[in-house]
Amino acid sequence: MINPSKKLLFDIKKLSGKTSWNSPSNIALIKYWGKKDLQAPINPSLSLTLNHCCSKTEISYIKSDNGFKYEFYFHNKLKPEFNKKLDTFFKRIIGYFPFLNKLNLKIDSENSFPHSSGIASSASAFSSLSLCLVDIEKSILGKNDFSNKASFISRLGSGSACRSVYGPAALWGKTNLLSDSNDNYAVPFKLPNFYSDYCDTILIVDENSKSVSSSTGHELIKNHYFKSNRIVQANANLENIINSIKKNDTNQFIEIIENEALTLHAMMLTSNPSFILFKPNTINIINKVWDFRKENNSSLCFTLDAGANIHLLYHNNDYKLVQDFINDKLLVYCSNGKYINDNIGMGPTRI
Ligand code: DP6
Repeated sequence: MINPSKKLLFDIKKLSGKTSWNSPSNIALIKYWGKKDLQAPINPSLSLTLNHCCSKTEISYIKSDNGFKYEFYFHNKLKPEFNKKLDTFFKRIIGYFPFLNKLNLKIDSENSFPHSSGIASSASAFSSLSLCLVDIEKSILGKNDFSNKASFISRLGSGSACRSVYGPAALWGKTNLLSDSNDNYAVPFKLPNFYSDYCDTILIVDENSKSVSSSTGHELIKNHYFKSNRIVQANANLENIINSIKKNDTNQFIEIIENEALTLHAMMLTSNPSFILFKPNTINIINKVWDFRKENNSSLCFTLDAGANIHLLYHNNDYKLVQDFINDKLLVYCSNGKYINDNIGMGPTRI
């Protein structure tokens, strides 16, 4: 458990410096959809950490004589429109970082992927920001529980962000299947080498920002008619996918990943009010992937985030086969022919 720090025991001379972290996005195989309490998940989730889709955040800090202050720049431009979300984040975390009351931060952030690609950036953005903050705490206090605290703080910005702190895979949420699992922060998930060689090609079906935010979607689970069954299903899917990974049963692995993706969107369709985030071309691609799998003995499967874009997951051995398939059959369904080739990565790095 991470406890709020009560005492301001630190060396006042150390109150200036700079730190910078690069942190990736992640793609959930078992989905987090629905919250309890403050940013705790109603079910455990499991994700693969990406390699190239990253946010880089740099924080320069100096002593402040009149309380906590910050300025946020995105790609070198001051962005006050992000302040509402950041204010909420800092209110949630300041009890865990009392030294912030003595600091003025200049936060510079940038994404490695295009802003208008429809890719959710909250996981990479909040994890890179949180890693910088925990790094500042470490240089002021001398030591801390670095990774657990970075994951814990990331979670208070965006739930899925807590999983980005670890590569190649992370598990977040209490489950009897993993002894150190908990709702407060993610823990590393041991992935056999075979799965660390997976690729994720993100097909950009829609470049616009989504019509309904993830936060609204999570909120609608509170009174969802299927909530209790969804919790049972997510736990069963987690147990089965862990077994499939252990047994190297690709068919079961694929079945569960696609079931989770479609269930996520089914929960949206059956919320009250209901909403739809996939697009006709999302369905067109899914059908093509199913046809492709019937014709080829391939590891290819799809998953979806809370949006219209498709993540194609496949083993690196199938790289050429899948890239040819994308170019021949799928580009026509992508917005302006856009897609991003990524793969599984080993987690954040200090720059
Ligand atoms: C569908 O982490 O974006 O991607 O905690 O409100 O920021 P907040 O939600 P967020 O939800 C992600 C939902 C998801 C599934 C997942 O990543 O597990």
